[in-house]
Amino acid sequence: MKPSVRAGGPGDLAVIREICIRTGDAGRDATGTLPDDGILPDLYAEPYVRLEPDLVSVVVGADDGEVVGYALGTADTDAFLAAWRETWLPVAAARHPAPSPSPSTAYERLVALLHRPEDMRTRWVDDFPAHVHVDLLPAAQGHGFGRALVERFCEAAASRGAVGVHLGVALENTRAQAFYARVGFEVLATTGGAVWFGRRW
Ligand SMILES: CC(C)(COP(=O)(O)OP(=O)(O)OC[C@H]1O[C@@H](n2cnc3c(N)ncnc32)[C@H](O)[C@@H]1OP(=O)(O)O)[C@@H](O)C(=O)NCCC(=O)NCCS
Repeated sequence: MKPSVRAGGPGDLAVIREICIRTGDAGRDATGTLPDDGILPDLYAEPYVRLEPDLVSVVVGADDGEVVGYALGTADTDAFLAAWRETWLPVAAARHPAPSPSPSTAYERLVALLHRPEDMRTRWVDDFPAHVHVDLLPAAQGHGFGRALVERFCEAAASRGAVGVHLGVALENTRAQAFYARVGFEVLATTGGAVWFGRRW
């Protein structure tokens, strides 16, 4: 496979949603692990495609042009979360109605997060205002595309005025932790079941 990176956008939404699910269980396929697979892309993919389409990059296979990976993110987490409440929540809430008052399952906790985007704001936002998600299907992993996507995202976020980027990686996703350490991120903390990484420029 000789993939390449190109700008993505709303036209790639369906395949981006699919990749989000297929990498959504700490880097492994999450299909069928939740009562509704769609909660993963409704939290971690579609809001970015809708609210920050200019920051979407995709990896495409050389043979068929099929999308096999992506980077999605925002340069301004606070503005993004405000836009989530205003324009994304009305759409997403129709798919996942009001959360249980005391969420106890993984799915309920994800729905609660979707309804309270402010809870996604971590203390890292002040120093690292951008955040990003990078996911590649297994066949596209290990060929340098993760690094290429991170560099492309950082350049774009910097050009929008961000001074740094942060992200959280599930504790059990040791592969992604090794990757981020290798591509210029420092560990900020380990908390809430995640290792938090930041990179400033
Ligand atoms: C994590 C992920 C984005 C990394 O992308 P990738 O294309 O596989 O990584 P790259 O090939 O660009 O690797 C970049 C560098 O990280 C290093 N690296 C990657 N995985 C590593 C590992 N498990 N251990 C040590 N180093 C690693 C590479 O050796 C490479 O170093 P080099 O450029 O100095 O030679 C990708 O594997 C992926 O999408 N995994 C599944 C979904 C996922 O876990 N996403 C992150 C959720 S937070």
